Amino acid sequence: MVIPVLSRYGPAALESVMVHASPSSPRPEDDTHFGFETVRLGQKQALVDDVFHKVADRYDVMNDFMSMGLHRAWKDVLVSMVKPPGNRPFRHLDVAGGTGDVAFRVAQAGGPETDVTILDINGDMLRVGEARAARHRVPGHLTFVEANAEDLPLPDNSFDAYTIAFGIRNVPRIERALAEAYRVLKRGGRFLCLEFSIVNLPGLDKIYEAYSFTAIPAMGKAVTGDGQPYRYLVESIRKFPHPETFRDMIEDAGFRRATYTRLTGGVVAIHSGWKL
Ligand SMILES: C[S@@+](CC[C@H](N)C(=O)[O-])C[C@H]1O[C@@H](n2cnc3c(N)ncnc32)[C@H](O)[C@@H]1O
Repeated sequence: MVIPVLSRYGPAALESVMVHASPSSPRPEDDTHFGFETVRLGQKQALVDDVFHKVADRYDVMNDFMSMGLHRAWKDVLVSMVKPPGNRPFRHLDVAGGTGDVAFRVAQAGGPETDVTILDINGDMLRVGEARAARHRVPGHLTFVEANAEDLPLPDNSFDAYTIAFGIRNVPRIERALAEAYRVLKRGGRFLCLEFSIVNLPGLDKIYEAYSFTAIPAMGKAVTGDGQPYRYLVESIRKFPHPETFRDMIEDAGFRRATYTRLTGGVVAIHSGWKL
């Protein structure tokens, strides 16, 4: 069952919230990015939600298609870093969990006492996830929670591990999400974030650039009839902080031993931090 915690934002407000800044104008502190657009900080979430309402039903098939299946290998590496134990209780939180890909892997890797909470702000994504969990008979105890990563309706010091995969760049106030991750983790708990990063392999960077900006929106349009959500996804990757900056943000939230590992020539990185 999806536990509704926060009301969702409708797409109705969308038209009025775009603020087109000229390239030379400085960005006020309460502005942020929605892809390459500058928008008011308080409006970004509604725009992001509209993207995922539009793609929810096709999200999984498009993920395979656009990443050529690579997202599966990246998620496997992420879950191998979680290492849920097979023989004792383990409480895992997957934030921006969407249709459940990471959460289901954790449940499958863990033992009978592994308890996984999948949290996402978008009820449509969670409902697709619930149907998948039932269809694939995912083992373990799963709880679906509709809520915002910036304001987790969960107790302090209650999880052994926290993951967020391809989610944090969509969150308007990343510092708040990191502070909440720190709050809900137990001492000794681990924060892990899988996110697109900066390609640092000569040659691959040019191919990746062309693929991202031309092929992905075109594929999105061909399959779903609308290229705009996929343009946002690509643009938001370019606006995400440099991995070293993000590592510092993780440390600023209180985590220790913050590190990151690049995969596939830097297409993605897994960031890690410990609550010690
Ligand atoms: C690209 S999908 C990733 C889904 C899943 N983690 C995966 O890797 O397949 C991004 C998800 O972030 C969610 N999201 C965006 N903003 C959020 C927020 N503030 N709090 C929680 N989830 C959020 C979206 O609803 C969407 O399901």
